Amino acid sequence: MIVVSTANGTAGIREAMAVLRDGGSALDAVEAGTRRVELNARDHTVGLGGLPNILGEVRLDASIMDGHTLRAGAVGSVRGILHAVTLARRVMEQSPHVLLVADGAERFAREIGMAEQDLLTEQAAARWRERLANRQPPVDPDGIAGRDRLLELVGDARDSMRGWDPAGTDAPHGTVNFLALDGGGNLASAVSTSGYPWGYPGRLGDSPIIGAGGYADNRWGAAASTGTGEVVLRTLTTRSVVLYLRTGMTLDQAMRAALSDLGALNDPLAGHVAVIALTPSGRHAGYAYRSGEHYVYLDGAMAEPEIAAMVQMRL
Ligand code: GLY
Repeated sequence: MIVVSTANGTAGIREAMAVLRDGGSALDAVEAGTRRVELNARDHTVGLGGLPNILGEVRLDASIMDGHTLRAGAVGSVRGILHAVTLARRVMEQSPHVLLVADGAERFAREIGMAEQDLLTEQAAARWRERLANRQPPVDPDGIAGRDRLLELVGDARDSMRGWDPAGTDAPHGTVNFLALDGGGNLASAVSTSGYPWGYPGRLGDSPIIGAGGYADNRWGAAASTGTGEVVLRTLTTRSVVLYLRTGMTLDQAMRAALSDLGALNDPLAGHVAVIALTPSGRHAGYAYRSGEHYVYLDGAMAEPEIAAMVQMRL
């Protein structure tokens, strides 16, 4: 048994492994690990404390997939539900659907009794206000909802990325990924994010799209991605990793092939993508176009998680 996560999953990887050690499923483990990160207000890419869209609304996306049944659930652009990953799992288990978004997802959350809360922390709100105040001319955050045009404030993602610190927590690539392999040989994936900071209302990234943000199939492997979803959506990167594994490629070959597909888009946004993967035999890997990326893993024989460097790809 093993759990693999993005570096920000360090906050939840022990909980995920505790689930497996108690005999829980891979699906239970990835949900537990993700929930812990969603609670971490210091992580501005996920759940509580997540950075808002251009209107100052925190909107969450999440997905979960069971590699045994290939069932999946996802939610997009959800307000006020801290544990978006659990809502995604409930969509999978208690609705006839795979993906619910916005008002419908929030309504479903209320119907199944999930508590609502304000997810915009003072710190995240301050960063949003600062972002608007630093524009020329400055934008009054209190009047933004009444503006006719928001597009000029969001701009093209490629332009707006020039000012980002790629290592900063407000860079447009924050997401948490969890993959797990349980004692019964089952794989699962979970992804949760507050999405693209200061993005256009209604924007969805890769995280809630099965096969883009995450995918799991007991027969071949599981994968999950972080980074700018605008490119991952165009190559369905995590499904690609699993399909490349199915062709008989090694894990490293499959990762290189899937990342190369991203690179072939010839889009600078691919430079912000990182992918982790786990095979049915417990082999794991992380590949990234971002420099200095790491991921974390913890197997059943280890007392503490270990950090591993991702293999860096070049555009
Ligand atoms: N990968 C997260 C997003 O693009 O929203």
